[in-house]
Amino acid sequence: MNTLSIYLHRPTLLQLPLQTYLFGALLLIATVGCHNERRPQQPLTFTEQNALDTSYAITSHNHTTHTAEDDFHQQIRAYESKDRVFWQKPELVISKMGELSDKVVADIGAGSGYFARRLAMRAQRVIAIDIDPRFIHFMDSLKMVEQLDRFETRLAEPMDPHLKPQEVDIVLMVNTYLYLPQRVNYLKHLKKSIKPGGRIFIIDFKKKKIPITDPPAHIRIPLYQVEQELEQAGYRIIESDDTSLDYQYIVVAERP
Ligand SMILES: C[S@@+](CC[C@H](N)C(=O)[O-])C[C@H]1O[C@@H](n2cnc3c(N)ncnc32)[C@H](O)[C@@H]1O
Repeated sequence: MNTLSIYLHRPTLLQLPLQTYLFGALLLIATVGCHNERRPQQPLTFTEQNALDTSYAITSHNHTTHTAEDDFHQQIRAYESKDRVFWQKPELVISKMGELSDKVVADIGAGSGYFARRLAMRAQRVIAIDIDPRFIHFMDSLKMVEQLDRFETRLAEPMDPHLKPQEVDIVLMVNTYLYLPQRVNYLKHLKKSIKPGGRIFIIDFKKKKIPITDPPAHIRIPLYQVEQELEQAGYRIIESDDTSLDYQYIVVAERP
């Protein structure tokens, strides 16, 4: 091949295979990870957040047909949306948990790890639990960026969080409670995995008109029902807060 034909056969940016973009993104993630000497308590830096955003971008495809993979990426984008911080107030929610440096926290229904990642910067250990292996893989891939030894993912089953007896001090469930089958039985079973005096935080959408329509109001669980179900399962309600967050309530209960 002469110089001219090499030039003519040189791939344009659009023609580069997907692997090239993946490799580039992995390199970026590894670079950010190598320079990450963050101590606990520090939030994600702007560069890290950009690396996260890049990792979503490169896994998106230009399909003309809609696939389950597209749905998954759409979910990730929604969970990690930059605007979410304004209504979700993750720092306020986490501050309600108090000192975490000696606590093991399980985030049940962790999804993309929106809360679990933040908790891992403060807690002794975080177990990010989900029943969907795609979220588990996604969170595992982010561990590379953040180098968090204290961050463990765990694949669970709908009726079993796969926690060991008295393994955790705190359970967090954000936007997940309504998806649990047989909620009271689930909560009873879960009690065995929480240390006596340990707490459960349930955060979910208020059953009223709010700008967020997913999940739709008719499938949301009202605050009083969460309280009732926790009590039926043998927990003691410590706090029911439906004012700190505009769109959600926070229920805190203790495992006696
Ligand atoms: C709406 S997402 C919330 C994700 C995350 N908590 C957040 O706020 O970004 C609900 C998550 O719960 C998971 N999930 C549903 N049923 C579950 C169950 N029985 N046990 C554990 N996770 C469950 C789903 O796979 C999904 O990742």
